[in-house]
Amino acid sequence: VSEAELARTQGLDLHGLDLVHRPRRNRKTDWARRLVRENTLTVDDLIWPIFVMNGTATRAPIPSMPGVERLTVDEAVRAAEMAAKLKIPALAIFPYVDPSLRDPLGSEALNTNNLVCQTLRAIKAEIPEIGLITDVALDPFTSHGHDGLLEDGRILNDETVEILVRQAVVQAEAGADVIAPSDMMDGRIGAIRAGLDAAGFTDVQIMSYAAKYASAFYGPFRDAIGTAKTLSGDKRTYQMDPGNGLEAIREAALDVEEGADMLMVKPGLPYLDIVYRLKEAFGLPTFAYQVSGEYAMIEGAIRNGWVDGDRIVPESLLAFKRAGADGILTYFAPRVAERLAAQG
Ligand code: PBG
Repeated sequence: VSEAELARTQGLDLHGLDLVHRPRRNRKTDWARRLVRENTLTVDDLIWPIFVMNGTATRAPIPSMPGVERLTVDEAVRAAEMAAKLKIPALAIFPYVDPSLRDPLGSEALNTNNLVCQTLRAIKAEIPEIGLITDVALDPFTSHGHDGLLEDGRILNDETVEILVRQAVVQAEAGADVIAPSDMMDGRIGAIRAGLDAAGFTDVQIMSYAAKYASAFYGPFRDAIGTAKTLSGDKRTYQMDPGNGLEAIREAALDVEEGADMLMVKPGLPYLDIVYRLKEAFGLPTFAYQVSGEYAMIEGAIRNGWVDGDRIVPESLLAFKRAGADGILTYFAPRVAERLAAQG
């Protein structure tokens, strides 16, 4: 029996609705769904964050980010090669700095042969076609795990900015294509732009972490770069309050004025409203960072069989596109790129 007959036997009198608009028409078939789809995810939307380390083992797993490993510089070059083959446009490099090299000033950040610089040179020498983005902030290098200089429990703004400018120039000299300040100090975009220009790096782009929130979603990342245990206090005096939306627009306006080429919002999925607002307000290339805690939640659920990984990962990334993002930093990048390549 048909469902209509069944309904009739149950005493329901079905005679249809007199509708002009039936939005389901456009969803009826696969070809129609493809034809009317407003947003799509492509490999060109992906930025892959990788963790590098020194040491003898080639790879070290990060327990709170199952499936993600720290790589030696040699392995990072192999990863870049794989990424370039998959046509991933760019990598973002984050270092796990040996604890013996960390100090209160983050001095190692200015070492022209530090782990980040070594990685930049090694990848540039072999895979020049892939974009390299570097993080400007002191946290991987400081013994206290903060992004800036700490004095009597306070993070010093202007003194930190001076060091960040030098860090950015050191990275540009080693081959960074895009400088991505994630520190949230006031005035750092303008200072870094001026510093890069003065050093002859007028072509190096700046992707500003314009709206970066003080978030618990960064937990696994701090395991990955080894600051989880050393971080004293929290980052709420420089990273933004999760309750604020308009403040993100003011922060981004300053960065745009100071010379940011691209904006970024972080974390990602819980802050899609901010992505949407910044893209609407400035129309600049706008990126979102699907951060470590988001990765851990999704990957943890996939590994437990609670959600379908083949569907949830691309869906989570498509959501960023719908919100207006031009691209996404995501630890899922190689996996997604492989799938997109297989789909042709
Ligand atoms: C630090 C930095 C953080 C992330 C990128 N750069 C963490 C923090 O602010 O403590 C987080 C990335 C992630 O969670 O995946 N400058």
